[in-house]
Amino acid sequence: MLIVNARLRGKNGVFSLRLHGERIAAIDAQGALLPAEPGQLNAEGNLVIAPFIEPHIHLDATLTAGEPGWNMSGTLFEGIELWGKRKATVTHEDTKRRARTTIDMLVAHGIQHVRSHVDVTDPSLLALKALLEVRDETRHLVDLQIVAFPQEGIESFENGRSLMEQAVELGVDVIGGIPHFENTREQGVSSIHFLMDLAERSGCLVDVHCDETDDPHSRFLEVLAEQARQRGMGARVTASHTTAMGSYDNAYCSKLFRLLKQSAINFVSCPTESIHLQGRFDTYPKRRGLTRVAELDRAGLNVCFAQDSIVDPWYPLGNGNILRILEAGLHICHMLGYEDLQRGLDLITDNSARTLNLGDGYGLEVGRPANLLILSAPNDYEMLRTQGHALVSIRHGKVLMERTPARVEVFG
Ligand code: FE2
Repeated sequence: MLIVNARLRGKNGVFSLRLHGERIAAIDAQGALLPAEPGQLNAEGNLVIAPFIEPHIHLDATLTAGEPGWNMSGTLFEGIELWGKRKATVTHEDTKRRARTTIDMLVAHGIQHVRSHVDVTDPSLLALKALLEVRDETRHLVDLQIVAFPQEGIESFENGRSLMEQAVELGVDVIGGIPHFENTREQGVSSIHFLMDLAERSGCLVDVHCDETDDPHSRFLEVLAEQARQRGMGARVTASHTTAMGSYDNAYCSKLFRLLKQSAINFVSCPTESIHLQGRFDTYPKRRGLTRVAELDRAGLNVCFAQDSIVDPWYPLGNGNILRILEAGLHICHMLGYEDLQRGLDLITDNSARTLNLGDGYGLEVGRPANLLILSAPNDYEMLRTQGHALVSIRHGKVLMERTPARVEVFG
């Protein structure tokens, strides 16, 4: 397969990419735009880029909004209450069907790598077993990492530690946690020690729901970062949400950032979910309830954006389009400055790949997997400004998705 007239991020000019089997065989400068020959894919001067990534989603809860009732207040707590009722009716087939439908939605928007948290605070581990099957059955669509996520705590939930260990034995890729939700500060700290030990023993990655609250005293991030630093595991560890950082004072943050840089852990922010669920105890002024995305980025730390939910008790919207999250996130995080707009796609591609530890399994380089997208605009800025799309998604050297853009004519 030959793709012609491609623009590549960070490079001037236009290029052609030759794919051979499941690998990128050659990337050559063309000099100028050329007419495409039959059988060639014509990028028409638009960006060709490695696939979009969804680094934080809950595929076990997806597509359940309204079942058994809608979240009328829109709060996290009503969401938890509703999920408690829906969880009682979850079946193996129901979980698989909803996850498959959601993966199709992600694929339709150019996503080929996904990290999904799955609630393991369930003695039957029903959802986890379903999602592990989905991981195998959708390899032609996405690379799926499964996180053992203890929604109701490791230390505060009966047999919480054992359920985490069972999840590892069943074959999860990533160890999760929720220290701010544990009953006491001490339990939150010990849950982090436990999950880091488990990750070290098993070789799994780590991705912790960390300080997902507006409470400025929720300070488990420092514990996670210090554990990662001491064990030399920073690159393999991710702190998701860390929304409390949006409420920390600057004096504490100046100390915290020193540790974060030493630990070199990764960060995931879910801007649409957090702006919706946080700030709920405020009148005015009302906090945004997001972590310090721009400040983390400026400090050289790795941060990326994620959807978190699609149509579930916590968040009623979503269609799989990570570009929608990027646009919202850049607005909410004060990242519409010129330089941020030139490299906005980093937050849903390269930064996310680093979080997922994709290594040389990702990126447009000769010898790497022939997984890539043709976008509808020539650069990051124009993709954002025009609310562009992934027009073609190629996976393992074959076309996986093609989108026909809407055609609009104005008369007069
Ligand atoms: Fe989450």
